[in-house]
Amino acid sequence: MKHFLDIHKTDAAELRAMIDSAHAMKTARNGRPKGTPDDDQPLAGRMVALIFEKPSTRTRVSFDVGVRQLGGQTMVLSGKEMQLGHGETIADTARVLSRYVDLIMIRTFEEQTLLEMAEHATVPVINGLTNRTHPCQIMADVMTYEEHRGPIAGKKVVWAGDGNNVAASFLHAAGQFGFDFTFTGPQTLDPEPEFVGFAREKGSKVLIERDPFKAVAGADLVVTDTWVSMHDPESAKERRHNQLRPYQVNEALMAAANPDSLFMHCLPAHRNDEATSAVMDGPHSVIFDEAENRLHAQKAVMRWCLGV
Ligand code: CP
Ligand code: NVA
Repeated sequence: MKHFLDIHKTDAAELRAMIDSAHAMKTARNGRPKGTPDDDQPLAGRMVALIFEKPSTRTRVSFDVGVRQLGGQTMVLSGKEMQLGHGETIADTARVLSRYVDLIMIRTFEEQTLLEMAEHATVPVINGLTNRTHPCQIMADVMTYEEHRGPIAGKKVVWAGDGNNVAASFLHAAGQFGFDFTFTGPQTLDPEPEFVGFAREKGSKVLIERDPFKAVAGADLVVTDTWVSMHDPESAKERRHNQLRPYQVNEALMAAANPDSLFMHCLPAHRNDEATSAVMDGPHSVIFDEAENRLHAQKAVMRWCLGV
């Protein structure tokens, strides 16, 4: 069973093959009208369940469109409307869904929910974001970096802000794709040691630098994300904003990075909080390519899961 649960749990050569396949599928679609099926229909006759326990725009639409382009069909399920939200165990839900569908993508809160789904499903399960990680996003981000600047191996990626679920998957990717990673943010919001440890074990240089200007020196890519994630309590908002304000990605900070550095944000963004509109719409920004590449990268992930 090929689940796509996290970047560190997937073989590095297979991750590389998925990125290459995503590039190839994107190129093949160039010039075709949006929304038309691909020539190749490897998901024909297959049904994919997309489960959301949290809101989503990109993940929901990119998976739905991706499945259809590959010839398959989707059903989008809200966690609240399912028995999952009313006491049925994850294991029973996984067993039942596996009788109907060929693939399950789930966006949930606790990582344990994803892991239980994968343990009991007899079809592949894809992580569409948990409180701890967001691997599909970083597959798209690696693809995006490489389409603009070539191989990401050996490059310096700087994460500014909250060491959250997206930062965690970046650390996994640092280990698997061989790039260096500097975190700049307040100590209380450092990425978990487990994620840092994985990247270091794999040979990445991982630095924690409290001064954002020192951190971005020599950066090839500067990344940030919302200061308050979907799983963070609303009561933490003010404290987080106060702590994170010095780590805003603005033009002054980007000017301290390499001149050809890129800027990424997985979106949705709170413009002029974690990043200014001048940066988001400026010459370094590739945020909408990132969003588009969710589609291509996830098509590659789904094909890998199903072996088609
Ligand atoms: N980046 C991302 O996962 O966006 P959504 O929350 O809109 O899916
Ligand atoms: N860190 C954000 C990412 C959203 C795509 C969150 O978990 O809300």
